[in-house]
Amino acid sequence: MQVLGIESSCDETGVAVYDTGRGLLAHALHSQVDLHAVYGGVVPEIASRDHLTRIVPLVARVLADAGVERPDAIAYTAGPGLVGALMVGGGVANGLGLAWDRPVIAVHHMEGHLVAPMLEDAPPPFPFLALLVSGGHTMLIAVRGLGDYEMLGTTLDDAVGEAFDKTAKRLGLGYPGGPALAKLAEDGNDTAVDLPRPMLNRPGYDFSFSGLKTAVLQAVQKSEAAGRLDDDRADIAASFQRAAVDTLIGRTLSAARDAGMERVVVAGGVGANQCLRADLATRFDGEVYYPRLAFCTDNGAMIALAGALRLADAHEGREIIARARWALESLGKPRAA
Ligand code: KG4
Ligand code: ZN
Repeated sequence: MQVLGIESSCDETGVAVYDTGRGLLAHALHSQVDLHAVYGGVVPEIASRDHLTRIVPLVARVLADAGVERPDAIAYTAGPGLVGALMVGGGVANGLGLAWDRPVIAVHHMEGHLVAPMLEDAPPPFPFLALLVSGGHTMLIAVRGLGDYEMLGTTLDDAVGEAFDKTAKRLGLGYPGGPALAKLAEDGNDTAVDLPRPMLNRPGYDFSFSGLKTAVLQAVQKSEAAGRLDDDRADIAASFQRAAVDTLIGRTLSAARDAGMERVVVAGGVGANQCLRADLATRFDGEVYYPRLAFCTDNGAMIALAGALRLADAHEGREIIARARWALESLGKPRAA
């Protein structure tokens, strides 16, 4: 079975074809980062309009690259995300489904991130603990099978990617700041600024990043007032990254231990962070799985794969589903085919 996957939940238009026998056949991505950078964040209306101009040529190119004329099913991101942006991918997917007489699958964006490591040569077997870290989410999930999710912890306020982005913005690093902040941190001393490790002394596995964000913004203000920001910038970036990574890893290690998980999957944009990867490798005894770097951030390949795994859930009705919010735990296992 060949599944066309379409991602348009935020500021990347992603398209891919996944073959259940041969694996990923082709994928392409158009990033809108440059369009939104001048505004310091994603502007929903601009995102929707740009998806609209990019998506059809991208679908045509990926089908040609894959050597596929009519895939057997079409998967699209139905949420969570920006509703206007989601409607573009959902509209194209449903239109193609109607034209080709093919079933359409509404994919949960975070399930896409969750299965992304399964596109690699050594896919993680179930069960595993998943750390999903992106611009909108920070979650620890006990994954016992597809759709069998126990939410162990989530953020009580900001997502970790958001904390990276806001800190980076305050340091004058532009948008999206996560990768730029990580780069700057390479030249800094990560013990230079004393920052909190929020929640680590509390029971449970929830996260909170607003206290850390406030503390780092105060450090920036103090440095600015002393006229030292140019000298301190890298140290502040490194100290922030260290505190954020320590918090993520502290929670992950205790959740893995308590849930008896020998495998950890890290996915979502912040999973591209090399400091997180290096530290987890040294501090966790078990196996750690990641998607390749290009599939940590939003992409069509993860949506095509998630669709292939949920072929049984295809909806025949021509309804475009676009949900701003959608709880991952509400998915449940795929219907028996
Ligand atoms: O998964 P993703 O592409 O989009 C969402 O679904 O949110 O994640 C984007 C987030 C942004 O906050 C970005 O700054 C962050 O991932 N990010 C990073 C790195 N690369 C991307 N954060 C820290 N270090 C990185 N290397
Ligand atoms: Zn994402």
